[in-house]
Amino acid sequence: MSKSLYIKTFGCQMNERDSEIIEQLLAQEGYVPTAEPEGADVILINTCSIREKAEQKVFSLLGSLRPEKLRNPHLLLGVTGCVAQQEGEQIRERMPHVDLIVGTQQIYRLPEMLDRLHQGVTSKEIATNMEASFTIPPFQKLLAGVSPSPSPQGFKRFVTIMQGCDNFCSYCVVPGTRGREISRPMADILEEVAILVDQGVREITLLGQNVNSYGTTNRVAEEQIDFPRLLRAVAAIEGVQRLRFTTSHPKDLTEELMRCFAEIDNLCPHFHLPVQSGSNAVLRRMNRKYTAQDYLDKVERLRRYRSDIALATDIIVGFPGETEADFQATMDLLNRVRYHGSFSFKYSDRPHTRSAEFGDKVPEEEKSRRLALFQERQDQICFERNCEYIGETVEIMVEATSSAGLKGRTPSNHIVHCPEATVNLRPGELALVCISHAGKHSLKGQIEN
Ligand code: SAH
Ligand code: SF4
Ligand code: F3S
Repeated sequence: MSKSLYIKTFGCQMNERDSEIIEQLLAQEGYVPTAEPEGADVILINTCSIREKAEQKVFSLLGSLRPEKLRNPHLLLGVTGCVAQQEGEQIRERMPHVDLIVGTQQIYRLPEMLDRLHQGVTSKEIATNMEASFTIPPFQKLLAGVSPSPSPQGFKRFVTIMQGCDNFCSYCVVPGTRGREISRPMADILEEVAILVDQGVREITLLGQNVNSYGTTNRVAEEQIDFPRLLRAVAAIEGVQRLRFTTSHPKDLTEELMRCFAEIDNLCPHFHLPVQSGSNAVLRRMNRKYTAQDYLDKVERLRRYRSDIALATDIIVGFPGETEADFQATMDLLNRVRYHGSFSFKYSDRPHTRSAEFGDKVPEEEKSRRLALFQERQDQICFERNCEYIGETVEIMVEATSSAGLKGRTPSNHIVHCPEATVNLRPGELALVCISHAGKHSLKGQIEN
């Protein structure tokens, strides 16, 4: 008899990819995904602990599932992901109704763990040594024939090329929750991409916390392969119409990678290159290993290779010790680069990070003020940037269609709405669109026939 599985995913694309893998693994055991937690046989919360707020969301959801657990004694409630890895069994102190806590590298054992719970083995006995798990090469090969639940976005998929992170930015939990950096063998990556393309996937995003250091640390691959070589090999696979990658560290952005943007046709001109701060003093305390000038120089060279490249970034405001002048340096950098988009966050202390121990914490109201100023300026820039596309003809890959027209995405990662589209296009198909309007967050245009 089939059992139902509900997964709620928080956090980044690594977690989204892990949830897909979990779905695949459990599909082989007869679990069928369901869209609602009510009545599910197994509920898994795939968690993120990058910022305090992310973790609070996890705990409030776990709390709200208590009545469901009481109502349905057969329900198994599990916690996976970065909070599970970080907090381990301590989660149960706050949330005693949780049955299972599974670290980031242990999701492959979920079928066996759920089996044992069903057989009446207690969750304490199943508890595993999370530290030890980091020694196991964690890559899961794509399971042939078992695809995750079909989604309207099935034409684009993530492919993990590396796990973990060795950068140890002073504020960041990721090296602790995902372990040391390990690069996946190139042959496995190419095989997975080829299988996906065979299944009809047209857009591939290579995924990792620090993809541009691929192959330089803790190589699982035997050969000497770096990220630009991997990119070229993936791009050459027939059927890969669009290729993207995320995330990159500015210190590992080489001239050769910049050249890829000029030379690889199907590599999209969109680059997420988190700077975090425009102040050298703050960057040093963050352990980012570059200066604002290094970063700006690289941006300039990158634009020489590919003038239409759309840049995006992550920013932390209110890092410990950030002065008004430091913050202004971030605003200056924003005004110089004029990002097409950004994700900006208030700094928050995280467990076992070095910056949590730093003095000079910036007060909450001040962090909020700086964040609002940054976001207000970024919004203006987004609008100005979007206006630059008016009158241009761009290619979109269709993402969704409805009676109200269609929505697609440009290679530069802009969303385009075509309200009057009458042509019959399906998600994943390409079309040329003439841009007529720009908003802060999206563009509008007409399909060209
Ligand atoms: N590996 C990627 C992304 C890491 S997490 C990278 O290095 O760019 C995504 C973003 O969360 C980071 O870029 C950073 O801006 C933010 N972040 C991480 N830790 C944080 C913290 N303690 N407080 C606030 N923001 C944080
Ligand atoms: Fe965290 Fe820095 Fe690694 Fe990104 S590069 S995951 S911010 S430690
Ligand atoms: Fe969050 Fe873990 Fe990703 S902390 S951002 S889910 S690697």
